[in-house]
Amino acid sequence: MLRNDLLEQWDRENFFHPSTHLAQFARGEAPQRVVTGGEGVFIEDREGNRLLDAFAGLYCVNVGYGRREIAEAIARQAQELAYYHAYVGHGTEASITLSKMILDRAPAHMSKVYFGLSGSDANETNIKLIWYYNNILGRPEKKKIISRWRGYHGSGLMTGSLTGLELFHKKFDLPLAQVIHTEAPYYYRRADDAMSEEEFSAHCAAELEALIAREGADTIAAFIGEPVLGTGGIVPPPAGYWEAIQAVLERHDILLVADEVVTGFGRLGTMFGSEHYGLRPDLITIAKGLTSAYAPLSGSIVSEKMWKVLEQGTDENGPIGHGWTYSAHPIGAAAGVANLKLIDELDLVRNAGETGAHFLGAMRDALGGHAHVGEVRGEGMLCAVELAEDRAARRLYDPAGKLAPQVVGEMARQGVIARAMPQGDIIGFAPPLCLTRAEADRVVEVTAQAVRAVLG
Ligand SMILES: Cc1ncc(COP(=O)(O)O)c(C=O)c1O
Repeated sequence: MLRNDLLEQWDRENFFHPSTHLAQFARGEAPQRVVTGGEGVFIEDREGNRLLDAFAGLYCVNVGYGRREIAEAIARQAQELAYYHAYVGHGTEASITLSKMILDRAPAHMSKVYFGLSGSDANETNIKLIWYYNNILGRPEKKKIISRWRGYHGSGLMTGSLTGLELFHKKFDLPLAQVIHTEAPYYYRRADDAMSEEEFSAHCAAELEALIAREGADTIAAFIGEPVLGTGGIVPPPAGYWEAIQAVLERHDILLVADEVVTGFGRLGTMFGSEHYGLRPDLITIAKGLTSAYAPLSGSIVSEKMWKVLEQGTDENGPIGHGWTYSAHPIGAAAGVANLKLIDELDLVRNAGETGAHFLGAMRDALGGHAHVGEVRGEGMLCAVELAEDRAARRLYDPAGKLAPQVVGEMARQGVIARAMPQGDIIGFAPPLCLTRAEADRVVEVTAQAVRAVLG
């Protein structure tokens, strides 16, 4: 095929890239990569570079690139029936089958799945369902949502508000008034050095209790959290955290939304993070790993307790006034069915646990003792290396130095993609769940070389 030599220029002139420094990109000063192919854990770009993608796109290509089974399922669906809507009781074999497959894998008390397209819209749905629920129960004042600082739940108006990262609020007039934030379960960055993990968890629960007391429990509808903080720094919870938090929520009749957009379908070595940490959510958000991003699809899994009230609501008020044209899109659903089958056939949940543990161990061996590495942490197929200027004093670098982006840039030159997390000098890893030990070792080797090249 004839090479289009204008493509990079067209890109700079026409394409509004998300999460990008717009001015630098337009001036040709920011990284630009045109991706052309992918196979297993590798992607290829237009310049002929082959890179090991240790972030699985945006922690979503869980089965790896180039899976024919999913591509063929999408093609078959597109030929048979590319689209029909799901309103007023319509469905397709793929969307119905997928809802059953999801519920078969979800915690036993979950009842139904509403399908959307992105993690953001699924969380928007969740908040609407929570407000509807409390209105049907005659509690119109119980509407505020508590989220955590450093949580990531999307970048819409409500979900950008739930997200607890400065970049997603600044200059956008967010967060909206109905959203309040509480302490991040970030043990490494605790204020009191002497606290044990359990004590820090108790402190987070006490902070939550105090916030609820200040606001009034009868004004608070729900708490949303990722089982493991993702975009906020890849931070597994300290010991006892979820138990302590859930006790507070239950005491005040506050619903729990488990945002499993990253952790759903195997990333922690269990099918869901809720199972991993003993969460009892009222709603579970799913996206990314549901189709391994072969097609856009998300979902809100609704508990039996909430479902009963939604049914009561429609008996009292008529059909639920919520839906997207592309809800349960057949092509996304066909991709989801093929993807979940593949996860089972390849035993990827087990591999995420086992190879993930090997990966974390190897990263700790390679970098745990480095003078400028504060912490190496992870769970399942999630890992992070947090840089620190003074390791012993837990003193972090000035973010203006952009050290993590420098390390990640050096790694890309050596053929491995990691992600400089948006807030802090944190190098994040979330490889495809099919990663092998040899590939994990390669990622560790390149990370260690790059850290030494940048920090000595
Ligand atoms: C935990 C979590 N929730 C929600 C989202 C938003 O998903 P999307 O980007 O598909 O809107 C993300 C995206 O990274 C996420 O990590």
